Amino acid sequence: ALPFDLAGRRVVVSAGGTREPLDPVRYLGNRSSGRQGWAIALVAAARGADVTLVAANVDLVEPPGVRVRQVGTALELHEAMLETTVGADGGPVDAVVMTAAVADFRPMDPSAVKIKKAAGQGPPTIGLVENPDILAALSRPGPDRAAVVVGFAAETGDGTADPTTSVLDFGRDKLRRKGCDVLVVNRVDAGRAFGRPDNAAWLLAAAGATDDIELEASVPLGPKSVLAAAVVDALSRRLGGSGPT
Ligand code: C5P
Repeated sequence: ALPFDLAGRRVVVSAGGTREPLDPVRYLGNRSSGRQGWAIALVAAARGADVTLVAANVDLVEPPGVRVRQVGTALELHEAMLETTVGADGGPVDAVVMTAAVADFRPMDPSAVKIKKAAGQGPPTIGLVENPDILAALSRPGPDRAAVVVGFAAETGDGTADPTTSVLDFGRDKLRRKGCDVLVVNRVDAGRAFGRPDNAAWLLAAAGATDDIELEASVPLGPKSVLAAAVVDALSRRLGGSGPT
């Protein structure tokens, strides 16, 4: 039987990938299917958590027993995360998992009408502006911060060193920069992770007050539900195993 270790805990999970409009028919997007976030929401709910799933452009059947909120762009995701991570009592929820792939930039000035290819004019120039870093915002210390904040990092090797070494180095650096408690790092080169049913990952964890980062778990290639269980285990350990009932 599944442990019922998240009973009464409130968890918010983001999933999918944002789309940033260029005009009414085109967008800048990414290859995230939403399957990994879906699996985390489902496992957390099955283990007793009250789960809100913030879904960016996901084409999957909604998981049972989970509240789903749909968003499209990074700005909409940002707003939805700020809203849903506040609990009914005004305090923060227990845990946030940022699985969604967020566009770092959006077109500065999306066109209200379809951009036309004009004869002799060549390609248009698209100006971009930076989107807010939602994970960094949710990780900032303060009264609104959830007890546990988990981020994801999809990395490729740097093309020179052994890919595993550089992927883990990028991961350590990212964990420090974002300020989250756990970073789930996966390799996305050579057709891994995105749009597939399986995934493999390392869970890096900030080691308390020190600047150290430890490798908390190494999850071999397998169904996304297995990685989801490892992520939920990481939440559960930090929330003290069994939540209030
Ligand atoms: O920096 P990078 O995009 O690789 O970081 C990935 C992590 O940060 C993911 O957890 C993603 O959900 C989150 N992120 C975010 N806001 C952004 C960019 C990434 O929350 N603008």
